[in-house]
Amino acid sequence: MNDDVIVCRAIRKIFKSEAEILEILRGVDLALPRGSCASITGPSGCGKSTLLSILGGLDRPSSGEVVVGGIDLARSGEDALSAFRARIAGFVFQFHYLLKDFTALENVMLPAFMLSGDRKAAEDKARPILEAVGLSDRLSHVPAKLSGGERQRVAIARALVNDPELVLADEPTGNLDRASARSVEDLLFDIVASRGTTLVVVTHDTDLAARASRRFLLREGTLVES
Ligand SMILES: Nc1ncnc2c1ncn2[C@@H]1O[C@H](COP(=O)(O)OP(=O)(O)OP(=O)(O)O)[C@@H](O)[C@H]1O
Ligand SMILES: [Mg+2]
Repeated sequence: MNDDVIVCRAIRKIFKSEAEILEILRGVDLALPRGSCASITGPSGCGKSTLLSILGGLDRPSSGEVVVGGIDLARSGEDALSAFRARIAGFVFQFHYLLKDFTALENVMLPAFMLSGDRKAAEDKARPILEAVGLSDRLSHVPAKLSGGERQRVAIARALVNDPELVLADEPTGNLDRASARSVEDLLFDIVASRGTTLVVVTHDTDLAARASRRFLLREGTLVES
């Protein structure tokens, strides 16, 4: 049996507008076993976020095969894709996208509540994860009353609350100072390692990229492992 969480074959992504046709991904192949940790680097505009969106079921390839957690994302309908996003994939973005009127605890509870409809169960899942990211004493803070690093830790807790098989992180620490970035990264790597979660991190930061056990460069629309 194949234990790869991610299998991509010959992914192409073309953006068409009236003026031009942009072929951003030109045959991306990728196979990642469960529990692996991969980084993707490459120049701005080369298609890293596009690829991550395809791996997370937020966008579809123009052609090619993408199977993540056993789900054929290129051929799934919208319902299957949203179930996939809720259960299998967790996202961490450069900007946290926390809900501003919700507390740290509520922000982390929300994806769990959406899945189960059970407020108490959602809270029971959210609290230990917030504790794991060191925010037990910030549960009732809204995002405006958290530091940048704390917001990013809430975002990590939110990505992990449904215990996804796969975490996709796009410049997760790109807007933090170096020391906060390193501490948020330590947390992210430690938690995914302890849970056996697969991590794919997109970054310009060579130190962050180097921490991954599998390192890829996206160049001219294809992935090259270094
Ligand atoms: N929806 C879209 N329609 C048309 N073009 C798009 C669309 N999304 C992305 N692009 C183009 O595709 C290219 C790749 O974008 P993408 O966001 O994947 O780059 P990136 O590698 O993540 O860059 P950065 O490092 O700056 O975040 C860019 O040139 C962008 O203009
Ligand atoms: Mg990007």
